[in-house]
Order: sequence, then C-alpha cells, then structure tokens
Amino acid sequence: MKGIILAGGSGTRLHPLTLATSKQLLPVGDKPMIYYPLSVLMLADIRDILIISTPTDLPQFPRLLGDGSDYGLNLTYREQPEPNGIAEAFLIGASHVGDDTAALVLGDNIYHGPSFYQVLADARATLDGCVLFGYRVGDPSRYAVSEVDETGRLLSLEEKPEHPRSNQAVTGLYFYDNAVVDIAKNLRPSARGELEITDLNRWYVERDRAHLVNLGRGFAWLDAGTPESLLQAGAYVCALQERQGVRIACIEEIALRMGFITSSQCHRLGARIGHSSYGQYVMAVAEELATA
Ligand code: DAU
Repeated sequence: MKGIILAGGSGTRLHPLTLATSKQLLPVGDKPMIYYPLSVLMLADIRDILIISTPTDLPQFPRLLGDGSDYGLNLTYREQPEPNGIAEAFLIGASHVGDDTAALVLGDNIYHGPSFYQVLADARATLDGCVLFGYRVGDPSRYAVSEVDETGRLLSLEEKPEHPRSNQAVTGLYFYDNAVVDIAKNLRPSARGELEITDLNRWYVERDRAHLVNLGRGFAWLDAGTPESLLQAGAYVCALQERQGVRIACIEEIALRMGFITSSQCHRLGARIGHSSYGQYVMAVAEELATA
C-alpha cells in the first residue's frame, strides 16, 4: 500500500500564523503537525509516502524529513499548484500509487486511540473498495457525514450538510483499492470548483464497495485548522504525554517499534536533537528497547 499526505492549502483560518510557514509544520505540543499524520501511515505499515504541498511550502518538508531513510521510509514530494481539492492528490500521486492500493491522510488530522495499529491492520486486511474512518462529533455539518448499516456498509455520504442525517463524521484518513486513480481522473469539479473527496467516495458507496470503521468514543480525532483547535490539540497531547510519560506520534519510536530502524539508528536520531526533552525521550526508548 502506498501512502499520501496532503499538506497543502493556504491555512487562511490560521493567519497570521501561516503567512510565512505551512500550517502542517506548526507545533502541536512538542512536534510539527505533520508528525501526526505521518505516524498514522507508519502505524499502518506504509513506508512509501508522497507528501504534497504548495509550491511555496513544499521545500520546508524535505528540510524536516529528508528522503525518509532516517526513519526507514521512502519519502517523495510533489507540488499542488492550486488547492483544487483533496481528490486531486490521486492525480498528482498517480505514478506514486502505480498499481498498488493507497492510503490518503490529511496533513492536519490528528488521531490517537487504543489499538490503532490493529484497527489499521484490520482495515488493510479487509480492504475491498474503500475504507473510511468515522467519528462521532457534536457539529457534523462541518464535515462529510455518513450513514451506515449495522455492518458498517456505507449507505450515504454528504459533504457538510445543512441537516446532517447522523453525527458520524468522515475523518481525513482514507484507504482505497487501485481503482481510486481512475475514479479521480473522471471526477468533475464541484460547485465550489474543487475535486471533492466525498464525490470520489460516493463512487464506491453507489457500488456498495465502501466500508466505514467507527473509531469509537475511546478515540481522539482532532483537526488543527483554527487557532482554538490548534491549541486544544496541543493541550491534549501535552496533558497525555506528561501524565503517561510516553509520547504521541514520535516518529522515531514508531519507526523502531515497527522494525523500520534498529535501536542504534533510533538512538542516533535522538542524540542529534539531544538537547530537547523529545530527543532525550527518543534516546531512552532506543535504550529500553535495545535491552528488552
Ligand atoms: O477533516 C475531515 C474533513 O476534511 C472531511 O470530513 C471532509 O469530507 C473533507 O472535505 C475535509 O473537509 P475540510 O473542510 O477540512 O477540508 P479542507 O478544504 O479544509 O482541506 C483539508 C486539508 O487538506 C487542509 O489542511 C488543507 C488540505 N488541502 C485541501 C484542499 C482542498 C490541500 O492540501 N489541498 C487542497 O486542494
């Protein structure tokens, strides 16, 4: 399975924070926002990952993450010249996907919850068409809203409906079979001029090939698109990390636990930023797992 992180957009709701930098590089707790969606793909055991951003912001991402080899990943980068819609990721990423299956994650979506690794592994194993991930929210009209039957089969999808049929939002993580590239090629822009991910997903719904995994109430799904939600996400991460003494979305630790890198490689990554408590944590994890 190939991964794509869509990390473009102009971040206007965060101005002036995003006038000189990418939204997806702003801090959430103690790390850049993109670490969170990157962690999700890594936990899904995906190592070939394309990062898409605006022509202005894109060069900042390889400065942070390089070619991914430090983390046992293969990272590539492509521009999205204009924010023409989320589904455009599959036109920009067509050759990256090739004849494989694909996972797309939005660069400002943050997931944290029990057995997420297993949830992702099960979704991959049962993928037939597309798998979307649902989450109960209090304000569904801000999102795509889903209706499912008792088995999780999707019956309908509506993008930002005025009168939502349920409280079940569709989050920004999507698994697809290889048909996704051709479906994206045949999409037409919506009334607001975008290639809509919900139109793409509806193609699968109409053919009975869309499944929704409900993340459940023990899970946290946050987006970080406004100053308030950015602060809330940071506060959530800091509170949990401090209480439990473990870090959320620590890409070095995930790379080690997934077997992408060795503990000595992990230790070196920590030592490189060893003046920070994040770096010290990475080194401590590497030492702990080396002797485990
Ligand atoms: O967060 C989940 C929601 O994400 C879904 O429930 C919706 O179905 C989906 O349309 C999307 O809604 P948003 O209102 O959050 O979409 P937005 O236009 O804000 O784009 C989401 C992120 O993707 C944002 O960080 C910017 C980036 N983006 C967006 C577009 C349209 C791009 O990089 N390129 C684009 O062309």
